[in-house]
Parts: sequence; C-alpha cells; structure tokens
Amino acid sequence: MALNRQVLLAARPQGPVTEACFALRDVPVPAPGPGAVLVRNLFLSCDPYMRGRMAAPTGYAGAFALGEPIPARVVGQVLESRHAAFAPGDYVWGFMCWEQYSLVEYPSALYRIDPSLGPVSHAISVLGMPGRTAEVGMLELGRPQPGETVFVSAASGAVGQIAGQLARAAGARVIGSAGTDAKVAHVLERLGFDAAFNYRTETSPGVALDRLCPDGIDVYFDNVGGATLDAVLARLRPFARIPVCGMISQYDGATGGLRNLGAIVGARATLTGFIIYDHMDGFDEFPARMAERMRRGEVRYFEDIVEGIDNTPAAFIGMMAGENLGKRLVQVAPV
Ligand SMILES: NC(=O)c1ccc[n+]([C@@H]2O[C@H](COP(=O)([O-])OP(=O)(O)OC[C@H]3O[C@@H](n4cnc5c(N)ncnc54)[C@H](OP(=O)(O)O)[C@@H]3O)[C@@H](O)[C@H]2O)c1
Repeated sequence: MALNRQVLLAARPQGPVTEACFALRDVPVPAPGPGAVLVRNLFLSCDPYMRGRMAAPTGYAGAFALGEPIPARVVGQVLESRHAAFAPGDYVWGFMCWEQYSLVEYPSALYRIDPSLGPVSHAISVLGMPGRTAEVGMLELGRPQPGETVFVSAASGAVGQIAGQLARAAGARVIGSAGTDAKVAHVLERLGFDAAFNYRTETSPGVALDRLCPDGIDVYFDNVGGATLDAVLARLRPFARIPVCGMISQYDGATGGLRNLGAIVGARATLTGFIIYDHMDGFDEFPARMAERMRRGEVRYFEDIVEGIDNTPAAFIGMMAGENLGKRLVQVAPV
C-alpha cells in the first residue's frame, strides 16, 4: 500500500520553534471521492506567519491543530481527479499540508499553475503570496519615487528581495539589511541594491543607516520590527512611508519598546500595517504581471530549496533563524 508521510504539529512553540514541535506520521495515500482531487505534492512552503499559527492556543482563530498535519501553501501535480476542472498531470497550488499527497475535497480552493510563466515552484514564491506581498507593500503603500531613498530589511528573503528590486525599478536608491555577509554580497551583486549592511555585525542599525543614507529614509519596507524599525523612525524624511509587512525579530517573544515613535509626527510619516489576505483582488492577473517584470529583467528571484519531507521541520526552523538565502521551500518529489 502506498504511504503518505505527513509532518504533524506535536507541540506548540514556546520561544523559538524546535524539532520537538513536530512529528512524522505515515498514513495510507487517500483515494479521492466524487468531486475530489488527489495531488502529489512537489513543493511545501515555509513562511514566518506559520510560527504564530503553531503557537496560537487551541480554539484561537487560525490556530494549527495539535496532532494534525500542518497546513501550508503547496505546489503539486494532480494524480487523480474526480472533478471536471482538473485532469491528471495538471500543476496546481493551494492550501494543503506538509505531506507527500493531499486529498483536496473542495477544489474551488485549488489553483491551476501556468508552467509557461516559469518554474512551477514560483506559484508560491515570486508569482504567489510573497511576490504579491512585496508588490502591495512597496508599490501601493510605499510608493517609491525616482531619487528617493528606500530601505528594506530581511532584504535577501522571500519578500524582501522583490520589494527592493521593485523600488529600484521605480528609480529609487535602495538600501538593504540582512543577517550574514554572504546575504549582503548577494543583495548587492545579484539583486542590484545600491547599498547593504549586515545588521548582526554593525554596532547598531542606526550607525549603518547614518553611513549609507545620511539624508534620511523616504520609504522603509519593514520585515523585522524591533531595533531596526526604531533606528529608521529616528531617520525619516518628510512624508516618509513605512509599510509594515512583518516583525520577525519579535515572533519568538522578544519585546522591545520603540523610543522614536514620536518622530512620525514631525516627519508627517505614514506607518501602515498590512496583511496580504486583504489584497487578493488583482491576484488573478498578478502572476503574469510579475512574470513580465522578470522577463524584462527588472526582478530576479532566488529560492532556497531543501530536499525531502523528513527535513521539513529543520527547513522551517532554519528559515526562522536566518539560514535561508531566498524563499525557503521543501521539495518532496521531483517535478
Ligand atoms: N503582511 C503580510 O501579509 C506578510 C506576508 C508575507 C510575509 N510577511 C512578513 O514578511 C517578513 C519576511 O517574510 P519572508 O517570507 O520574506 O521570510 P524570509 O525573509 O525569506 O525569511 C525570514 C528571514 O527573517 C530574518 N530574521 C530572522 N530573525 C530575525 C531577527 N531577529 N531580526 C531580523 N531579521 C530576522 C532572517 O534573515 P536575516 O538573515 O537577514 O536575518 C530570515 O532569513 C516576515 O516578517 C513575515 O512575517 C508578511
């Protein structure tokens, strides 16, 4: 009998996510009933928001269930279909689970991938949620203008790499921060940022920002919060925009007050939190739009792919710790 290996949530994280939060289980591959689709999974996504859902108490909206496979964005290929809209061989993405095969009983939540737009994994990276997040945050909320100074934290990551390149294409001068020297070199040499720094080896983010953007910051795409956001607040240019995409430096429970929040008054700055789920309108046209930017050479994209379902917990833990160079995915079967 064919088996389906799944990654379960075994315990809710207290602080950093550890291997003890996960367990593996083998179950029979399910057979699709009428109207359902069986998908052979290819790529599983590791996204920072999942940590919050792992930690959320049982019963809390969006909390992942203990002892159950972990829900995630997944790219796969239809293996068996009893639904008129899908045929075996179709490439699809949807909210499935960290597992080798997914039974999709409501295929209205399954989306066909156009393989002519690029590698199918892109459906959950540059042509999917992270890409649209960068587009909304940078272009709709940040609105970078030619000659402005834009700063992006977690600049080499799934979202940050696109946010920075979109700002450059808009004519801005773009500075990035990242957690290793290799990431800083990558951001400069492959992503075309104008300047970048390693926030782990600088005396403080403020010292680096004073050196790299002495005239202040017009747009800050915030992925990390904490001390980096505080340093930016003290260095805002008039009418600065701060799209707040995430605050990963605080997801494991670290706290740290903002001392410089009052600076938004004098700067007449706008600080806007956003969640991509509120911006799903326009998502249908998004993959082709972003693929065209890539074809024009405005955006390059890098994925960091770990092999094997058994390595999914380590892949997620490593992503939260900054091990990934680009969008972290787990490949569980050949395309
Ligand atoms: N608002 C939304 O709808 C939305 C959607 C998607 C993602 N997000 C947010 O966007 C941010 C980036 O997500 P992503 O998917 O693109 O992940 P990612 O950047 O590919 O991976 C996470 C990165 O965060 C950095 N990091 C980890 N701990 C940190 C710390 N203490 N201080 C500073 N940086 C730290 C690490 O890079 P370094 O080595 O550079 O530290 C790590 O590689 C996250 O905050 C996420 O929650 C929000």
